[in-house]
Amino acid sequence: MEDIQILAIESSCDETAASVVKNGRTILSNVISSQIELHKLYGGVVPEIASRKHIEKINQVIEQALEDANVTLDEIDAVGVTYGPGLVGALLVGVAEAKAIAYARKLPLVGVHHIEGHVSANYIEHPDLEPPFLCLIVSGGHTHLVIVKEYGVFEILGRTRDDAAGEAFDKVARAIGLGYPGGPKIDKLSKEGNPKAIEFPRAKIDGCPYDFSFSGVKSAVLNYMNQAKMKGEEVNRADLAASFQAAVVDVLTEHTMRAAEDYGITKIAIAGGVASNQTLRAAIEKACKQRNFRFYCPSPIFCTDNAAMIGVAAYYEYQKGVRHGWDLNAVPNLKLGER
Ligand code: KG4
Ligand code: ZN
Repeated sequence: MEDIQILAIESSCDETAASVVKNGRTILSNVISSQIELHKLYGGVVPEIASRKHIEKINQVIEQALEDANVTLDEIDAVGVTYGPGLVGALLVGVAEAKAIAYARKLPLVGVHHIEGHVSANYIEHPDLEPPFLCLIVSGGHTHLVIVKEYGVFEILGRTRDDAAGEAFDKVARAIGLGYPGGPKIDKLSKEGNPKAIEFPRAKIDGCPYDFSFSGVKSAVLNYMNQAKMKGEEVNRADLAASFQAAVVDVLTEHTMRAAEDYGITKIAIAGGVASNQTLRAAIEKACKQRNFRFYCPSPIFCTDNAAMIGVAAYYEYQKGVRHGWDLNAVPNLKLGER
């Protein structure tokens, strides 16, 4: 079989990224230019700044990805790009760039769903992993529990009713003065705290055992902070972070195990930025071991936004015959399973 090499581009939020992926599973390069330092000043991602920074960086990042992979555009077989969901102005930079390269080089263009990319990150380091399997997707904008039925085909079992898991981490981190991005900071600070110090609510939704809700635990943390302030008491931030994280991790783990048991699925994967959380990884791994399930997770660098995962997803879409036209546009609220 002839090799298929895909140049992949990701610019949906605050990372400008490009990668060259061979035959869907071999990452020849993975270049990520993060804007975190820039957005830190504002406590979150500023869309207008993100778009402008993508424009500045995208050509450099692509050149670097080709150089690291030791290939030229002549050896590329298709261009894959995230076209949604995400920030519209940010997405447009990657989409316009991918279209320009594909048009100039007469290459097929494959638009990729960002969340399908996150799920596909699991294929990079696990050559044995193939659908079907259960996947918990936890990122800054999404919390979904899905069955991956085939490559790129999902049955959604559960989703968040309000905040995404990563959003809850970011909001709580801001409230306790840790700054942006909150997830990694809470992860780190929690190691010094007692996860049983404060009992925060673990939300359940009647009749929907796989759905999530994180606004309750977020409000509980804010209330706890306010009450301590009114009483003039010092808050132990490490205990608070660890207790909040424990509440979120418990719910994510419980719902995932429940779905696996109910549907008789024994292969469990996790994906998205929050999947790099060490406590979550350990909790799901332990729960899987107890039940004799196989557990899969990408290395942290492939959990947060990157283009390698987009190249992997693009490969499987390409193999299915998916080709996008020159009218491909950014779709900021693209739903999972939509084309
Ligand atoms: O997947 P991602 O890079 O971007 C989106 O598609 O949203 O996810 C970013 C989210 C942020 O909310 C960030 O705080 C969270 O993932 N995150 C973490 C960790 N690393 C990133 N949350 C908890 N623990 C971490 N170690
Ligand atoms: Zn993402």
